Amino acid sequence: MDTMNNYSTSEEIEKYRQSGRILAEVQEKTAKKITVGASILETAVFAEDLIRDLGGQPAFPCNLSRNEDAAHYTPGANDTSVFGEDMVKLDIGVHIDGYIADAAITIDLSDHPELVEASKAALESAIDTVHAGVDTREIGAVIEKTIGEFGYKPISNLTGHGLLQYQSHAPPAIPNIATRSGTILQEGQVIAIEPFATAGAGRVKDTSKWEIYHIKTEKPALPRIPRARALLKEMMEYKTLPFAKRYFSGEKIDFTFRQLTKSGIIEPYPILRETTGALVSQAEHTMIVTEDGCEVTTR
Ligand code: CO
Repeated sequence: MDTMNNYSTSEEIEKYRQSGRILAEVQEKTAKKITVGASILETAVFAEDLIRDLGGQPAFPCNLSRNEDAAHYTPGANDTSVFGEDMVKLDIGVHIDGYIADAAITIDLSDHPELVEASKAALESAIDTVHAGVDTREIGAVIEKTIGEFGYKPISNLTGHGLLQYQSHAPPAIPNIATRSGTILQEGQVIAIEPFATAGAGRVKDTSKWEIYHIKTEKPALPRIPRARALLKEMMEYKTLPFAKRYFSGEKIDFTFRQLTKSGIIEPYPILRETTGALVSQAEHTMIVTEDGCEVTTR
Protein backbone atom coordinates (compact mmCIF):
# COMPACT_ATOMS: atom_id res chain seq x y z
CA MET A 1 0.00 0.00 0.00
CA ASP A 2 1.48 3.27 -1.14
CA THR A 3 -0.65 5.59 0.93
CA MET A 4 1.20 7.26 3.81
CA ASN A 5 -1.91 9.01 5.07
CA ASN A 6 -5.09 10.59 3.76
CA TYR A 7 -3.26 13.29 1.88
CA SER A 8 -0.14 12.17 0.09
CA THR A 9 1.37 8.94 -1.20
CA SER A 10 5.08 8.32 -0.71
CA GLU A 11 5.62 8.96 -4.42
CA GLU A 12 3.94 12.34 -4.11
CA ILE A 13 5.96 13.16 -1.01
CA GLU A 14 9.15 12.40 -2.95
CA LYS A 15 8.12 14.88 -5.67
CA TYR A 16 7.38 17.55 -3.07
CA ARG A 17 10.85 16.96 -1.63
CA GLN A 18 12.49 17.13 -5.04
CA SER A 19 10.80 20.41 -6.01
CA GLY A 20 11.77 21.79 -2.60
CA ARG A 21 15.42 20.90 -3.12
CA ILE A 22 15.43 22.57 -6.53
CA LEU A 23 13.82 25.66 -5.05
CA ALA A 24 16.42 25.95 -2.28
CA GLU A 25 19.24 25.89 -4.82
CA VAL A 26 17.54 28.37 -7.17
CA GLN A 27 16.78 30.70 -4.26
CA GLU A 28 20.39 30.71 -3.07
CA LYS A 29 21.80 31.41 -6.53
CA THR A 30 19.18 34.01 -7.48
CA ALA A 31 19.61 35.88 -4.19
CA LYS A 32 23.25 36.57 -5.14
CA LYS A 33 22.09 38.30 -8.34
CA ILE A 34 19.95 40.81 -6.44
CA THR A 35 22.23 43.82 -6.11
CA VAL A 36 21.81 47.56 -6.69
CA GLY A 37 21.88 48.17 -10.45
CA ALA A 38 21.08 44.58 -11.52
CA SER A 39 18.33 44.03 -14.10
CA ILE A 40 15.08 42.79 -12.57
CA LEU A 41 14.00 41.03 -15.76
CA GLU A 42 17.34 39.21 -16.10
CA THR A 43 17.07 38.11 -12.46
CA ALA A 44 13.58 36.65 -12.94
CA VAL A 45 14.55 34.87 -16.16
CA PHE A 46 17.71 33.52 -14.49
CA ALA A 47 15.63 31.93 -11.72
CA GLU A 48 13.04 30.45 -14.08
CA ASP A 49 15.69 29.04 -16.45
CA LEU A 50 17.64 27.52 -13.56
CA ILE A 51 14.47 25.77 -12.30
CA ARG A 52 14.11 24.08 -15.71
CA ASP A 53 17.84 23.24 -15.91
CA LEU A 54 17.54 21.46 -12.57
CA GLY A 55 14.60 19.36 -13.75
CA GLY A 56 11.62 21.30 -12.39
CA GLN A 57 9.10 23.75 -13.81
CA PRO A 58 8.23 27.20 -12.45
CA ALA A 59 4.97 26.85 -10.45
CA PHE A 60 4.49 30.59 -10.95
CA PRO A 61 6.61 33.42 -12.40
CA CYS A 62 9.54 34.54 -10.26
CA ASN A 63 8.12 37.30 -8.04
CA LEU A 64 10.44 40.21 -7.23
CA SER A 65 8.15 42.64 -5.39
CA ARG A 66 9.94 45.66 -3.95
CA ASN A 67 9.44 47.97 -0.96
CA GLU A 68 5.71 48.68 -0.37
CA ASP A 69 4.72 46.09 -2.97
CA ALA A 70 4.13 42.94 -0.94
CA ALA A 71 3.47 40.39 -3.67
CA HIS A 72 2.68 39.51 -7.30
CA TYR A 73 5.24 41.68 -9.09
CA THR A 74 7.11 40.05 -11.92
CA PRO A 75 8.78 42.08 -14.67
CA GLY A 76 7.14 42.40 -18.07
CA ALA A 77 8.84 41.56 -21.38
CA ASN A 78 10.16 45.11 -21.91
CA ASP A 79 10.89 45.95 -18.29
CA THR A 80 14.25 47.75 -18.17
CA SER A 81 14.18 48.57 -14.46
CA VAL A 82 17.02 47.71 -12.11
CA PHE A 83 17.18 47.14 -8.37
CA GLY A 84 17.81 50.24 -6.29
CA GLU A 85 18.26 50.44 -2.53
CA ASP A 86 15.15 48.29 -2.25
CA MET A 87 13.61 45.74 0.06
CA VAL A 88 13.20 42.87 -2.40
CA LYS A 89 10.94 39.87 -1.80
CA LEU A 90 12.22 36.92 -3.83
CA ASP A 91 9.25 34.53 -4.03
CA ILE A 92 9.81 31.39 -6.10
CA GLY A 93 7.60 28.44 -7.02
CA VAL A 94 8.79 25.11 -8.41
CA HIS A 95 6.78 22.05 -9.36
CA ILE A 96 7.41 18.51 -10.52
CA ASP A 97 4.31 16.95 -12.08
CA GLY A 98 2.26 19.59 -10.24
CA TYR A 99 3.77 18.95 -6.78
CA ILE A 100 4.70 22.43 -5.66
CA ALA A 101 7.37 24.04 -3.52
CA ASP A 102 6.78 27.71 -2.66
CA ALA A 103 9.28 29.79 -0.70
CA ALA A 104 10.36 33.38 -0.26
CA ILE A 105 13.12 35.41 1.35
CA THR A 106 13.71 39.12 1.65
CA ILE A 107 16.90 40.50 0.12
CA ASP A 108 17.36 43.84 1.81
CA LEU A 109 19.28 46.50 -0.10
CA SER A 110 17.52 49.21 1.94
CA ASP A 111 19.19 48.67 5.33
CA HIS A 112 16.20 47.68 7.49
CA PRO A 113 17.55 44.48 9.09
CA GLU A 114 14.99 44.42 11.94
CA LEU A 115 12.05 44.39 9.55
CA VAL A 116 13.59 41.49 7.63
CA GLU A 117 14.28 39.64 10.89
CA ALA A 118 10.65 40.10 12.04
CA SER A 119 9.09 38.04 9.24
CA LYS A 120 11.93 35.51 9.36
CA ALA A 121 11.58 34.95 13.10
CA ALA A 122 7.79 34.73 12.75
CA LEU A 123 8.19 32.02 10.13
CA GLU A 124 10.54 30.02 12.36
CA SER A 125 8.15 30.29 15.33
CA ALA A 126 5.26 29.24 13.10
CA ILE A 127 7.20 26.21 11.82
CA ASP A 128 7.88 25.19 15.44
CA THR A 129 4.13 25.30 16.09
CA VAL A 130 3.08 23.04 13.19
CA HIS A 131 2.07 19.41 13.80
CA ALA A 132 -0.90 17.20 12.93
CA GLY A 133 -3.82 18.36 15.06
CA VAL A 134 -2.74 21.98 15.49
CA ASP A 135 -5.33 24.68 14.85
CA THR A 136 -4.32 27.28 12.24
CA ARG A 137 -5.46 29.93 14.76
CA GLU A 138 -2.46 29.00 16.91
CA ILE A 139 -0.10 29.53 13.98
CA GLY A 140 -1.61 32.93 13.21
CA ALA A 141 -1.35 33.96 16.85
CA VAL A 142 2.35 32.98 17.02
CA ILE A 143 3.11 34.95 13.85
CA GLU A 144 1.32 38.06 15.10
CA LYS A 145 3.02 37.86 18.50
CA THR A 146 6.52 37.39 17.06
CA ILE A 147 6.22 40.25 14.57
CA GLY A 148 4.73 42.42 17.34
CA GLU A 149 7.79 41.79 19.51
CA PHE A 150 9.88 43.49 16.83
CA GLY A 151 7.53 46.48 16.89
CA TYR A 152 5.92 45.71 13.53
CA LYS A 153 2.59 44.45 12.23
CA PRO A 154 1.83 41.40 10.12
CA ILE A 155 -0.12 41.94 6.89
CA SER A 156 -3.52 40.70 8.03
CA ASN A 157 -5.12 40.21 4.62
CA LEU A 158 -2.38 37.99 3.21
CA THR A 159 -2.20 34.36 4.31
CA GLY A 160 -0.29 31.17 3.85
CA HIS A 161 -2.10 28.36 2.10
CA GLY A 162 -2.36 24.68 1.32
CA LEU A 163 -0.72 23.13 -1.72
CA LEU A 164 -2.29 20.42 -3.87
CA GLN A 165 -1.25 19.00 -7.22
CA TYR A 166 -1.32 21.91 -9.72
CA GLN A 167 -3.02 24.12 -7.09
CA SER A 168 -0.73 26.82 -5.77
CA HIS A 169 -3.37 28.29 -3.43
CA ALA A 170 -5.46 25.49 -1.94
CA PRO A 171 -7.21 25.50 1.44
CA PRO A 172 -6.59 25.87 4.30
CA ALA A 173 -5.62 29.53 4.64
CA ILE A 174 -2.85 29.93 7.24
CA PRO A 175 -3.49 33.30 8.88
CA ASN A 176 -0.76 35.77 9.81
CA ILE A 177 -2.80 37.05 12.78
CA ALA A 178 -4.86 35.53 15.60
CA THR A 179 -8.23 34.71 14.03
CA ARG A 180 -11.61 33.66 15.47
CA SER A 181 -11.98 30.48 13.44
CA GLY A 182 -9.39 28.05 12.17
CA THR A 183 -8.73 24.66 10.63
CA ILE A 184 -7.10 21.62 12.19
CA LEU A 185 -4.05 20.51 10.19
CA GLN A 186 -3.82 16.85 9.19
CA GLU A 187 -0.81 14.59 8.78
CA GLY A 188 0.45 14.63 5.18
CA GLN A 189 -1.08 17.99 4.29
CA VAL A 190 1.33 20.25 2.42
CA ILE A 191 1.21 23.90 3.41
CA ALA A 192 3.11 27.13 2.82
CA ILE A 193 3.44 29.61 5.67
CA GLU A 194 4.30 33.16 4.66
CA PRO A 195 4.39 35.96 7.23
CA PHE A 196 4.73 39.53 5.94
CA ALA A 197 5.87 42.29 8.31
CA THR A 198 5.50 46.05 7.96
CA ALA A 199 5.71 49.32 9.88
CA GLY A 200 2.55 50.44 8.06
CA ALA A 201 -1.13 49.67 8.62
CA GLY A 202 -0.67 45.96 7.99
CA ARG A 203 -2.98 45.61 5.02
CA VAL A 204 -2.51 45.39 1.27
CA LYS A 205 -4.75 46.52 -1.56
CA ASP A 206 -4.91 45.62 -5.23
CA THR A 207 -3.16 47.98 -7.63
CA SER A 208 -4.22 48.31 -11.26
CA LYS A 209 -0.96 46.80 -12.48
CA TRP A 210 -0.26 43.16 -13.23
CA GLU A 211 1.81 40.82 -15.38
CA ILE A 212 0.69 37.52 -13.86
CA TYR A 213 -2.47 35.63 -14.87
CA HIS A 214 -4.05 32.21 -14.59
CA ILE A 215 -6.79 30.31 -16.41
CA LYS A 216 -9.88 30.30 -14.20
CA THR A 217 -11.13 26.77 -14.89
CA GLU A 218 -9.35 23.57 -15.85
CA LYS A 219 -11.37 23.11 -19.05
CA PRO A 220 -12.09 26.58 -20.41
CA ALA A 221 -14.44 27.11 -23.34
CA LEU A 222 -12.26 27.81 -26.39
CA PRO A 223 -12.91 31.21 -27.96
CA ARG A 224 -13.86 31.30 -31.67
CA ILE A 225 -11.39 34.07 -32.54
CA PRO A 226 -8.37 32.15 -33.90
CA ARG A 227 -5.68 34.30 -32.25
CA ALA A 228 -7.32 34.08 -28.83
CA ARG A 229 -7.94 30.37 -29.28
CA ALA A 230 -4.30 29.71 -30.20
CA LEU A 231 -2.99 31.73 -27.26
CA LEU A 232 -5.34 30.04 -24.82
CA LYS A 233 -4.16 26.64 -26.02
CA GLU A 234 -0.57 27.71 -25.25
CA MET A 235 -1.64 28.91 -21.80
CA MET A 236 -3.33 25.59 -21.05
CA GLU A 237 0.11 24.04 -20.73
CA TYR A 238 0.17 25.74 -17.29
CA LYS A 239 -3.21 24.23 -16.28
CA THR A 240 -4.54 26.62 -13.63
CA LEU A 241 -1.07 27.64 -12.36
CA PRO A 242 -0.05 31.30 -12.70
CA PHE A 243 2.00 32.44 -15.72
CA ALA A 244 3.48 35.74 -16.91
CA LYS A 245 2.45 37.64 -20.00
CA ARG A 246 6.11 37.73 -21.02
CA TYR A 247 6.08 33.93 -21.49
CA PHE A 248 4.14 34.48 -24.73
CA SER A 249 4.96 36.31 -27.91
CA GLY A 250 3.26 37.10 -31.17
CA GLU A 251 1.15 39.79 -32.75
CA LYS A 252 -1.36 41.78 -30.69
CA ILE A 253 -0.42 39.97 -27.51
CA ASP A 254 -1.67 42.75 -25.19
CA PHE A 255 -4.96 42.94 -27.05
CA THR A 256 -5.49 39.18 -26.93
CA PHE A 257 -4.71 39.07 -23.20
CA ARG A 258 -7.33 41.79 -22.68
CA GLN A 259 -9.86 39.84 -24.74
CA LEU A 260 -9.32 36.65 -22.74
CA THR A 261 -9.53 38.62 -19.49
CA LYS A 262 -12.73 40.39 -20.50
CA SER A 263 -14.41 37.15 -21.47
CA GLY A 264 -13.58 35.77 -18.01
CA ILE A 265 -11.35 32.96 -19.25
CA ILE A 266 -8.16 34.24 -17.62
CA GLU A 267 -7.74 36.39 -14.55
CA PRO A 268 -4.89 38.70 -13.52
CA TYR A 269 -3.16 38.82 -10.15
CA PRO A 270 -2.83 42.53 -9.40
CA ILE A 271 0.32 43.69 -7.63
CA LEU A 272 -0.54 43.94 -3.91
CA ARG A 273 0.63 47.13 -2.21
CA GLU A 274 0.76 48.06 1.47
CA THR A 275 -2.06 50.59 1.94
CA THR A 276 0.09 53.23 3.65
CA GLY A 277 3.08 52.77 1.34
CA ALA A 278 5.29 51.30 4.07
CA LEU A 279 8.08 48.78 3.45
CA VAL A 280 7.12 45.10 3.63
CA SER A 281 9.32 42.07 4.36
CA GLN A 282 8.36 38.43 3.76
CA ALA A 283 9.59 34.95 4.64
CA GLU A 284 8.05 31.70 3.39
CA HIS A 285 8.64 27.95 3.48
CA THR A 286 6.69 24.92 2.27
CA MET A 287 6.28 21.98 4.64
CA ILE A 288 4.65 18.59 4.97
CA VAL A 289 2.70 18.22 8.20
CA THR A 290 3.83 15.19 10.23
CA GLU A 291 2.46 13.54 13.34
CA ASP A 292 4.68 15.46 15.72
CA GLY A 293 5.91 18.39 13.64
CA CYS A 294 6.62 19.09 10.01
CA GLU A 295 9.18 18.49 7.29
CA VAL A 296 10.24 21.73 5.61
CA THR A 297 10.84 20.91 1.94
CA THR A 298 12.37 24.22 0.86
CA ARG A 299 15.46 24.55 3.11
CO1 CO B 1 2.90 31.10 -1.16
